[in-house]
Amino acid sequence: MIQMLQKFKTALLAAGLSSVLALGFAALPGVGQSPEPKPATMHASSASLENWWKNAVYYEIYPRSFQDSNGDGIGDLNGITQRLDYLQKLGVEAIWLSPIYPSPQVDFGYDISDYENIDPQYGTLADFDKLVAEAKKHNIRIIMDMVMNHSSDKHKWFEESRSSRNNPYRNWYVWKDGKGETATDKGQPPNNWQSDFGHSAWEWDEKTRQWYYHKFYKEQPDFNWNNPEVKKAFDDILKFWMNKGVAGFRFDAITTLFEDPNWIDDKEILDKNGKTFLNAYGDVTLDDARTNNLPEVHDVIRHIREVMDSVPPTKFPGRRIMIGETYVPTIKDLLNMYGTKAKPEFELPMDTQLGFINKMDVATFRSKINDAETGLEGNVPLFVFDNHDNPRIDARYGDGVHDDDITRVISTVLFASKDAALFYNGAEIGMKTTPPTRKEDVKDPVGITGWPKDKGRDGERTPMQWDDSEYAGFSTVKPWLPVPPNKSTINVKSEQADPNSLLHWYERLIELKKTNPVFDHGQNIMLNTDNTKVLSWVRKGPGKQAIVVATNFTAEPQTIDLSAKSAGVSGTKLKTVLKSPIASEPASIDKVELPAFGVYIGEVQ
Ligand code: BGC
Repeated sequence: MIQMLQKFKTALLAAGLSSVLALGFAALPGVGQSPEPKPATMHASSASLENWWKNAVYYEIYPRSFQDSNGDGIGDLNGITQRLDYLQKLGVEAIWLSPIYPSPQVDFGYDISDYENIDPQYGTLADFDKLVAEAKKHNIRIIMDMVMNHSSDKHKWFEESRSSRNNPYRNWYVWKDGKGETATDKGQPPNNWQSDFGHSAWEWDEKTRQWYYHKFYKEQPDFNWNNPEVKKAFDDILKFWMNKGVAGFRFDAITTLFEDPNWIDDKEILDKNGKTFLNAYGDVTLDDARTNNLPEVHDVIRHIREVMDSVPPTKFPGRRIMIGETYVPTIKDLLNMYGTKAKPEFELPMDTQLGFINKMDVATFRSKINDAETGLEGNVPLFVFDNHDNPRIDARYGDGVHDDDITRVISTVLFASKDAALFYNGAEIGMKTTPPTRKEDVKDPVGITGWPKDKGRDGERTPMQWDDSEYAGFSTVKPWLPVPPNKSTINVKSEQADPNSLLHWYERLIELKKTNPVFDHGQNIMLNTDNTKVLSWVRKGPGKQAIVVATNFTAEPQTIDLSAKSAGVSGTKLKTVLKSPIASEPASIDKVELPAFGVYIGEVQ
């Protein structure tokens, strides 16, 4: 069902690892009290601009579905510019834009046909410049999505490459002879490698009578990263956008740049009975270790780091950062993505190990948070629980009854941990996964290949719900994907008016993260480590300050002792900072009562 997640699960296998009412909001003394939270400003407590990114709040925008400004049913750059006030008030400090480059839109922008321009559906380069300039006025940085694994088959480089075996661009992509070819029969692909989007990863090209490799759709041919010209071309592309003022890039599918040069078949993964099994596309499930996370990937990442550092930030001061799409199976693999002091790689490779547990399982959450605290050698984890490739939080963690409260728990883990925090547009209002109900309505080709087992990714890409009007304030015409009927209750406008809304919960949590030094600098120490119902921890220091956080992972009320003596905290009283609406004031530090999926955050005194 979830493509990238399936891939991640496969990686895990390969690594041998094996009723109630919606709670209103009750802000009590402390940061959570203000009904109109102040917009987050640049890190007051982070001394240097060099460090702006470390405790920052990142927001992924899927531009096609965020805000349509010109009435064509498709979101665009000017639409994003119009919504900057909203984003600033929410506390967003950097926006990651899913791809906005010219594209045939087979994979909705992840098939790029020109890396140095804007797709006319989304606007112009002038609109982009305006977005960067306006975002700066809102203290918001722009981060571009950079797709280096593949281009569109309509990119001029690939059109050249496929035009003849002698073309200078031939070697920019991955071409191979197949097996058993005759004058009249193309034979078989070079090996059994599969596309992440189903079926063979090889496509026959009749004109030049060879196969080209594509990790994703056949319209997304993979670059040959062993060719230095490819590297050089991307150096120039990165510089082009840096000179336009972008604050960094999110590197798409970065682990799949290289393929094993022996071109041998991938191994089949066996189930617990020792049998092969089929995936959602009806293909035998393979371990893609020969096309994923090869060591050469790190040379490229290190090289990009050097390119990033070679261009001084002009339009927006402060370090330019590299975010990695790093679905890797272990904390050790994630650590490798940071590189070393001498040879740095990503500042922020995504920690998908915590965010995609997909189960309200306290012990696993605790252990993954601990991994990030202790296993990354002081590097900053980037926690993320949702994106445009995976069903939203309701579909992966919700129970259909307490979804907003469960989202409060998840967002507390996101914003009250020691991390940089990334979330996906619409999470803050509790948008729900709304997959198509008929195959003929599916837009994402993954959903067409995988129907009905995998309905594709349309469900998490529906238009942003701004108000309860016909098209939810997203557009004045029928949008490219339907607006979910729940827009009448789940929308920004009504949540802005409701002090108990999820939107205000997000605003307050983010404000806490941005304004309280404990959340900027403090340590993260787990409490009650045997408890399987409540995840609790203390954020400690600098100085004596300590804030305890408790989150109920169950639908039953729980009582918890938050005395943090084991963590070296001596106070015995609590001053509430933020809590779920119907949670009561704790009687004492050793008896904090939490309602179903309730959250309590308090300062120890
Ligand atoms: C992106 C997907 C995309 C794929 C191929 C990713 O992981 O997030 O949306 O389909 O790369 O570019």
